[in-house]
Amino acid sequence: MEAVTRNFFLLLSKSNWLNEMARKRGGSIVTGKIIAGTDFPSSVQIIKDLNSKGLATTVDHLGEFVNSKETAIERTKEAIETIETIGREKLDSHMSVKMTSLGLDIDQDLVISNMTSILDTAEKHGVMVTIDMEDEPRCEKTLELFKQFKESYSCVSTVLQAYLYRTENDLQKLSSLKPFLRLVKGAYKEPAAVAYPDKKDVDANYKKLIEQSLKYGLYTAVATHDDNMINYTKELAAKLQIPKDQFEFQMLYGMRTKTQLDLVEQGYKMRVYVPYGRDWYGYFMRRLAERPANISFAFKGLVKN
Ligand code: FDA
Repeated sequence: MEAVTRNFFLLLSKSNWLNEMARKRGGSIVTGKIIAGTDFPSSVQIIKDLNSKGLATTVDHLGEFVNSKETAIERTKEAIETIETIGREKLDSHMSVKMTSLGLDIDQDLVISNMTSILDTAEKHGVMVTIDMEDEPRCEKTLELFKQFKESYSCVSTVLQAYLYRTENDLQKLSSLKPFLRLVKGAYKEPAAVAYPDKKDVDANYKKLIEQSLKYGLYTAVATHDDNMINYTKELAAKLQIPKDQFEFQMLYGMRTKTQLDLVEQGYKMRVYVPYGRDWYGYFMRRLAERPANISFAFKGLVKN
């Protein structure tokens, strides 16, 4: 049943028509709940509030699978402005970007040129830019681009997904570059040919990757809401005598808020992934796929509006 619900929401997440409807309706259902605002200026106060509680952030302008050059260039300009605002306002924040929003599906030269402009600005302001990992058909290209950028920029990082069979090998290959890596379980609908279909295998691989990443000496961001994984990381770090400044936890804005603050209280670095923008629909559906309990507040919001 759980798998059916997950697949249902993941299928809905791909609907252009529903995305357009959600865009037109505005973001009032989700603003302040799972997204910070519909643009960056209106999200700054939420980021300042999180920072004041000891929570670092990484901000993400929602929107993916862009298929027009103009939109990809527009998104690049917007990302640059966001980095400049992070620098000007002295926010304790990284930025997360999706290669498909910068032109990955359109033209390789376009995405390289857009990302180069973003990284030039990020380097100037000392802001880390994390390349989110999207669906499996784009994984190889994304990692190739990451390696290329990493040769010239220290402020770039990326994400590896535990559900993919290939990831252990990718981690080993990337380790010599000493990247800042975010480890996640993986959020897309993938076939059994490329990804573990059983959650218990994904969890086992996630633990293995956390251990390997820490043993390679990489700065490791453990991005999960799962207590089992959080406790595993804490125990492993203590056993291997990994210092608290070699890893951090990451969670999504609006999820497990109390746990986020507890981790800060316990002396761990905690980073909150803060999405903003008008294209909240696909992100929202993926969150529902992970945990349909997230839907309850949305229904309350719908009734109120
Ligand atoms: P999972 O969904 O496996 O749940 C395990 C258990 O955790 C649940 O049974 C429940 O007990 C608890 N739990 C989970 N969610 C909860 C909640 N909201 N409240 C209370 N308890 C909860 N994916 C991707 O493919 N590419 C990417 O770039 C990213 N980036 C990213 C950044 C950050 C900061 C995070 C946190 C996640 C991502 N993801 C991602 C998403 C990731 O791949 C994954 O889909 C989700 O984090 C869900 O998996 P979890 O490990 O959180 O727990």
